[in-house]
Amino acid sequence: MTKKFENKVVIVTGGTSGIGLATAKAFSAEGASVFITGRRKDTLDAALKEIGGRVTGVQGDMSKLVDIDRLYDAVQQKHSHIDVVFANAGGGEMVPLGAITEEHYQKTFDTNVKGVLFTVQKALPLLRDGGSIVLTSSTTSISGTPAFSVYSATKAAVRNFARNWILDLKDRRIRVNAISPGVTDTAGLNELFGSGESAENTKAYLASLIPAGRVGQPEEIAKAVLFLASDDASFVNGVELFVDGGQAQI
Ligand SMILES: NC(=O)c1ccc[n+]([C@@H]2O[C@H](COP(=O)([O-])OP(=O)(O)OC[C@H]3O[C@@H](n4cnc5c(N)ncnc54)[C@H](OP(=O)(O)O)[C@@H]3O)[C@@H](O)[C@H]2O)c1
Repeated sequence: MTKKFENKVVIVTGGTSGIGLATAKAFSAEGASVFITGRRKDTLDAALKEIGGRVTGVQGDMSKLVDIDRLYDAVQQKHSHIDVVFANAGGGEMVPLGAITEEHYQKTFDTNVKGVLFTVQKALPLLRDGGSIVLTSSTTSISGTPAFSVYSATKAAVRNFARNWILDLKDRRIRVNAISPGVTDTAGLNELFGSGESAENTKAYLASLIPAGRVGQPEEIAKAVLFLASDDASFVNGVELFVDGGQAQI
């Protein structure tokens, strides 16, 4: 049977852990040549082993333009074009209004907004007409969470990039969609919730608030990303797809 992404070139930023890793694996299993990024070398090496197939790792910080340039230089050494960009690298910390520092603001916006913007913009010369871009937003783009305002503002910005970029990229028939995961069991989330028992308790509490009755798994987000990136979603453009067990709908 033909694989859905056979011979496609796919970029997954933040592809060494959690949602990005699960998505890189899913693209690879569907035949894609995948390029992943992450800042930590050991985590990058472990992810490359886990993904297997035709995967290339580029160590780098997506909030830095020189590192994004290195990513696309590496792509050009092997391929003449890109089919899919999944701009996923991101994260956040909990800081309540009153304690927000310039550093916290800068770090969060640089990674989540500047990083996504330039990951996409610098891909454009290589991205083929009719290609697909998926941006990782979050349910926080439309909801409030105590001590999470800066992160939530970045994800609202990311969601709005999709609305505007479908107009800028109209003539090239490039689709842009945002994926908004709800609470998803990843290393990043566990760290945010203080790891160990503290994280388990927080996840159990949050699960009780989710209509599906549980938190999500990275593989469930990956399936939705592959849908948006594929021709199955050929008329889906500019949407925010919530993959959250119903959390954002109540
Ligand atoms: N988990 C959730 O509940 C949830 C919900 C909604 C949205 N999200 C979003 O989903 C995305 C992935 O999160 P996750 O939960 O899968 O987190 P994760 O397990 O911490 O994975 C984050 C990935 O991004 C990489 N990364 C972080 N900052 C980077 C940077 N500046 N440059 C390059 N790579 C970077 C990390 O590697 P290094 O640390 O080595 O760089 C890692 O590969 C993020 O955008 C997050 O905001 C997560």
